[in-house]
Amino acid sequence: MDKVRILDHPLLHHKLSFLRDKDSAPAVFRANAEAATVLLASEVTRLLPTETVAVETPLATAQCQRVREEDVTIVPILRAGLGMVQGFLDLMPGARVGHVGLARNEETHEPEAYYFKMPPGFGRGLTIVVDPMLATGGSACDAIATLKRHGAARIVFVCLIASEQGIARLTAEHPDVDVFVGECDAVLNDRAYIVPGVGDAGDRIFGTEN
Ligand code: PRP
Ligand code: URA
Repeated sequence: MDKVRILDHPLLHHKLSFLRDKDSAPAVFRANAEAATVLLASEVTRLLPTETVAVETPLATAQCQRVREEDVTIVPILRAGLGMVQGFLDLMPGARVGHVGLARNEETHEPEAYYFKMPPGFGRGLTIVVDPMLATGGSACDAIATLKRHGAARIVFVCLIASEQGIARLTAEHPDVDVFVGECDAVLNDRAYIVPGVGDAGDRIFGTEN
């Protein structure tokens, strides 16, 4: 199966159109980011193994399939990745959450690390790194490299909007990582923002400005 999946779903396109709209207030942006993430999460979670459990229905024993939610760790890249956490927790409330803090340097566009905290034993199952934006790919590559150093066995990266350049860099540096994308834009501008993109996702989610 292709390691990069760009979803084509009418509701996902619909939700992303509200993220792209410059007039969407933070509450609208957050709600649509969460809903778009749920749609992506339903595809990402096809990767999860299930185990058979016997469940007593009111009539008989049913052989059912369950996922070990506690073996899944959602890792938002701070800050903007926070806007995608609840979308995964809606589907897997028992998943665990770790945090990677990275901020892009405005001149070099390189990520600078300021925080890293994972739940104990996080690396044994699926680690799902979430960030709305994959621009140069520097932040995603840095976060994934750090997670690998800390023992993450199987990593997936999920974003709402990617650039072609970001996908190329991520797949070149981390060919083992499955990548799920909402929509892909062709262009990065001279400030390394995705065009047309959504602007600064962290600022749009939290109502801050550069
Ligand atoms: C944004 C975004 C990604 C990164 C993408 O975060 O959320 O983490 O930039 O750019 P890249 O692919 O070129 O690395 P930013 O550093 O602006 O921090 P924020 O989430 O706190 O706003
Ligand atoms: N970070 C963002 O939030 N938006 C972009 O377009 C690029 C990086």
